[in-house]
Formats: sequence, structure tokens, C-alpha cells
Amino acid sequence: MRIYPSAWTQGRQAIAEFDLDGYHFPAGTILMFSQWALHRLPAIWGDPEVFRPERWDPATGQKAPHWAYFPFGGGQRICIGMPLAQLEAQLVTATVLQRYNPTTRARLPSRPPTADYAPSKARPPHDPGTCSDARNEAGICQG
Ligand code: HEM
Repeated sequence: MRIYPSAWTQGRQAIAEFDLDGYHFPAGTILMFSQWALHRLPAIWGDPEVFRPERWDPATGQKAPHWAYFPFGGGQRICIGMPLAQLEAQLVTATVLQRYNPTTRARLPSRPPTADYAPSKARPPHDPGTCSDARNEAGICQG
């Protein structure tokens, strides 16, 4: 669920304009955020490619920062099936392990995310920046 989240990206549409981290976002902006990318950020996970279940062991005192791990989304539209999915996962795992002994194989090379998540329709309000005629006409260089 962390390294291979089945829902790998999500979006929201801003119903009102807002500023965040020096960027201005007009109402109607589509915002995309990716579980796949955030669940693999070295700054948060250290060694994101490594499967290390102890990360989640309360005894180790390790804890992922809020919103660093969100395979079921979050907020008002968080997955309504989350408790069922988590229960099913435990039941399926327990059932399979009663009949099979899984073994590990050599790892396949993993590909880093290639998407660029920098805001495309927003820029820091005080950054003079540059704005092409086309972007000006589209009204996305204001501020
Ligand atoms: C591993 C299993 C599952 C994963 C990873 C998953 C993931 C997600 C994600 C990421 C969202 C979007 C949440 C957001 O926008 O913040 C979502 C929404 C939703 N999920 Fe799941 N889901 C899973 C299983 C299920 C199951 C078992 C059900 C129903 C039995 C279910 C029903 C729904 C529904 C109805 C929504 C829409 C909720 C809303 O928009 O208010 N999901 N899910």
C-alpha cells in the first residue's frame, strides 16, 4: 500500500482561490497529488524502495508524518470502503498463508516517478517571472 498504492494519484478542484507556500491558486484550479510519489519521497522515508515493515511498529517509535501516507485518500472524501478493505486484506493474507509458503525472488528494477508535480497554472505572487502571450490571454499569469 505504500510502495505500490493501488490508487496512485488523486485530484481536487479548488472551489475558492487560495494561497499556499507562496503560490496563488485561482478558484477552479485542478490540484493533483500522488500517493505513488509521496510514498516514495526519500526525505520522508529515508530508504523508500526498501520493504521494512518495522516502519509501522509502534515499539520502534517510528511514525510517518501526517499526510505522508494516504493510500485511501483523506478528508471528507476518504475511501468509504477503507475498513472493509483492511479487514479483507488481513483475511485474504491469513487464508493464503495457511495454504502456501511464499518465497522471495530477485527484485525487478523499480522505475522512479517521472511526473512533474510543480504547479503549472500558478506562480509565486511576488515573482515577476515571465508570462507568454498565450498564458496571459488564458488569464493564468495574474497576481
Ligand atoms: C485496497 C483497497 C482500496 C483502496 C486503496 C481504495 C482507495 C480509495 C481512494 C484513494 C479513494 C479516493 C479518496 C479521496 O478522494 O480522498 C477512494 C474512494 C472511494 N472508495 Fe475506495 N479504496 C479501496 C477499497 C474500497 C472498497 C472495498 C470500497 C467499497 C466496498 C470502496 C469504496 C469507495 C468509495 C465509495 C469511494 C468514494 C468516496 C467519496 O467520494 O466520498 N473502496 N478509495
